Amino acid sequence: MSKRPSISFAKHAPVEGNTAVLLVNAEGKIAAAAESIIGAATLSRIINVSDFKGKLASGISTIAPADVQLDRLVLIGAGDPDKLKADDWLKLGGAALSKVAGVKNISVILALPDMEVTAESAAEFALGMLLRSYSFNKYKTKKNKDGEKDYHSARITIHVADPQAAKKAFAQTEAVAEGVILARDLVNEPANILGPIEFAERIEELKKLDVKVEILSEKDMKKLGMGSLLGVAQGSSRPARLAVMQWNGGKGKDQPVAFVGKGVTFDSGGLSIKTAGGMEEMKGDMGGAAAVTGLMHTLATRKAKVNVVGIVGIVENMINGEAQRPGDIVTSMSGQTIEVLNTDAEGRLVLADALYYCNDRFNPKFVINLATLTGAIMIALGLHYAGLFSNDDALADQLLEAGQGTGEKLWRMPLGPEYDKLLDTKNADMKNIGGRYGGAIIAAQFLKRFVGDTPWAHLDIAATAMGAPANEYSQSWASGFGVRLLDRLVRDNFES
Ligand code: BES
Ligand code: MN
Ligand code: ZN
Repeated sequence: MSKRPSISFAKHAPVEGNTAVLLVNAEGKIAAAAESIIGAATLSRIINVSDFKGKLASGISTIAPADVQLDRLVLIGAGDPDKLKADDWLKLGGAALSKVAGVKNISVILALPDMEVTAESAAEFALGMLLRSYSFNKYKTKKNKDGEKDYHSARITIHVADPQAAKKAFAQTEAVAEGVILARDLVNEPANILGPIEFAERIEELKKLDVKVEILSEKDMKKLGMGSLLGVAQGSSRPARLAVMQWNGGKGKDQPVAFVGKGVTFDSGGLSIKTAGGMEEMKGDMGGAAAVTGLMHTLATRKAKVNVVGIVGIVENMINGEAQRPGDIVTSMSGQTIEVLNTDAEGRLVLADALYYCNDRFNPKFVINLATLTGAIMIALGLHYAGLFSNDDALADQLLEAGQGTGEKLWRMPLGPEYDKLLDTKNADMKNIGGRYGGAIIAAQFLKRFVGDTPWAHLDIAATAMGAPANEYSQSWASGFGVRLLDRLVRDNFES
């Protein structure tokens, strides 16, 4: 895991050090707690001569006034504080961090006029700082060149009204940061380094957090009849794995909640080969599995009071002489047969067996799968929303609400028999593709055939897990999408 700045909390007090960070609202006002650092007259001069007007997540770095023991002053706009919502506190933290690259000692005065900054907001602010500080630079032999910023040795003190409460809340969000960063690290890692075996090894490290981990080999999967998953893996010299993670923080008899992830460590398309351009980002085709792994890390670290199962199917979709051919028919663990007409529609083949296995073995309260499943979802929704498909309105609503809380936007997509029948084929129970239109929906219909009556939701995160637009708290190609969302879903609805 990459090195992170250290964050602690303290009471409001006169600050020293290198740099102080203050919040300024859209009226150009600061809290009383910040007035010892900058007077109203100086502040209004800055606002008058600069572009900085206190707009949400805007910022300015300036030399500190002569009468304080500081080098630098950073002002961060909080906009209209009454309207702060969703991920806005993350954005404030991220914006603040972006202004202090290379600074050793940073004091944040986390206060605003006429409002109380809650411990939860302070913890989210700190989370925003941690997530902003992430960069995937382990393969850069020359560090800190080309504007690469260094935040890692920063010591940050966040001054709040109630440091004890903030510290407690931060213990939770720090666990979230670790999960998001783990997911980002896994997705950013290139496929020559991270194949199925290596991914499974990374998952085994969760044992240190008292997560129960089982890694199923190809032999195990063959015994279980996972012909659908194994068909995808058969063209790679690197064997498939299925990882089963369990965190039992709930009551002994409580039915678990379950998360399943697509873990294609590289998707060449197989014999239905992708174009060169289409392959460039396919090291990230395990974003769903990375999110599930990151989530399990978070839940175990913060000792969530819930029983959770995380299952990820890990394969490499390659082309050697053994590779699956278009037209091959495979038998899934469910017994249903599949005509594989396009070897590039492989994610659904992996998930079919992983979902069925999950339900069959664990009978979960619900199962949510995450997958970088279709290019079609990117066409449908662009880069800002993940597609949500579900057979259960209550679960879908809980997910939508969690997304509104974390800023991980979801848009519910339709399912229906009209789409389902596009999967019919003369030669087997179904085919793995269904024509030109509505590709993301057809993929979801395919998955639905493997979940029975269990409440189920599928998140198509092809657009949001990788290559999503950067924001105040993510500058990384891999976003870690889904970890905060599902942590929030569990925290708000399923902990005892
Ligand atoms: N992994 C891809 C989906 C994808 C594409 C994710 C671009 C992220 C960026 C998936 O396995 C795939 O190839 N899907 C095909 C399905 C088609 C063959 C029915 C697609 O979307 O083109
Ligand atoms: Mn594919
Ligand atoms: Zn894929």
